[in-house]
Amino acid sequence: MRSSLLMSMVAAAGAFVATCFAGQPATPEPVKARPLVVGFSQVGAESAWRTAETKSIKDEAAKRGVTLRFSDAQGRQAAQVNALRSFITQKVDAIILAPVVETGWEPVLREAKQAKIPVILVDRGVKVGDESLYATLIASDFVEEGRMAGEWLAQKTGGKAKIVELQGTTGAAPAIDRQKGFAEAISKHPEMKIVRSQDGRFERAKGKEVMQSFLKALGKDGITAVYAHNDDMALGAIQAIEEAGLKPGQDIVIISIDAVKGAFEAMIDGKLNATVECNPLLGPAAFDAAEKAVKGETLPKFIKQQDRLFEQHEAAEAIKTREY
Ligand code: AHR
Repeated sequence: MRSSLLMSMVAAAGAFVATCFAGQPATPEPVKARPLVVGFSQVGAESAWRTAETKSIKDEAAKRGVTLRFSDAQGRQAAQVNALRSFITQKVDAIILAPVVETGWEPVLREAKQAKIPVILVDRGVKVGDESLYATLIASDFVEEGRMAGEWLAQKTGGKAKIVELQGTTGAAPAIDRQKGFAEAISKHPEMKIVRSQDGRFERAKGKEVMQSFLKALGKDGITAVYAHNDDMALGAIQAIEEAGLKPGQDIVIISIDAVKGAFEAMIDGKLNATVECNPLLGPAAFDAAEKAVKGETLPKFIKQQDRLFEQHEAAEAIKTREY
C-alpha cells in the first residue's frame, strides 16, 4: 500500500516536471555574440606615423570581424565632432577617437556617454573636467619623449646648442607635451637655447617651409640643432638644410620623434642623428579595450606605450624589422 503510494507520487512528480519543461531544450543554447560595430574618428593623414596607426586599426578590425566605420577628419576638429555625432546616431557599440587637439570635447563626449557608447582615446589625450567621459587613453607619454630628446641633445652637443624647434599642430597633446618635456631637459643646460619655435603641423612640406624661414632669418651660423616634434617635419627640414648648402646631421644636429622607416633611412644616410620611438601600432590594444568596455568592464584611465630612442649606429639593424 505504502510502496504503491510512493510510486504514484514519483510518477506524478515526473509528470509535473515534464509538463513544466515541455517544449524547452534540456540545456539553453549559448547566446551568439554579435560582431561589434565600432566607429573610428581619425585626425587625418599628415604623417607616415598616422598612416601606420590607421592601418593598424583597420587591420585589427578586419582580423576580429569588427565592422569598422572610418572617418578621416583631415585635421579638423569640427569634422571629428560631426563623425562622433554620426556614430552616435548609428548606435555603434564603441567609438575610437584620435583627437586632433586637447580641448573642446566635453559636449560630444557627454552625448556619447548618454547614449551609453564607450569612447576609447588613442594616441592623444583630451582635457575634460569629468574623466568618466572616456573609457581609457592608449598612448605614449609625450612629455617623456620630449625629455628623452632633450637629454640626448644635451649629451650630443656637450650642453651647448642654438636650437630651432619644429612644433606639431598647435593645441595637439603631442605638440604641447613634447615641447614641455624637451624644455624641461634643456633647462639644466644654460648654454642650450631655443632660438626659434614654430608650428609645422606634423607635415613634411610644412616642416621644410618653416626650416627655410628659420635659415633665412638666422643665417647658417645661427642654428646648430633642430628638434622636430615628428620625423616627417625633420625630413622636410633636411631638404631645406641641403638646399641651403649645409650638411644635415653634421653641420646641424637633428633629432625628431616617431621612429618611422623614413627616419631610419635618413639615419643610415647620416642626415638625421636620432629619433625617439612613438608606437602607432595601437589596433590590438584599442580593440581589446573596446571589447572590455562594451562588456561594462572598468579600464585603467591611461594605458601607456613604451618608447625608446634610436641613434644612427643602430639604424641599419633596426630597419630590418621595422613595421612602419
Ligand atoms: O599623436 C602622435 C603624433 O601625430 C605623431 O608623432 C605625429 O607624427 C602625428 O601626426
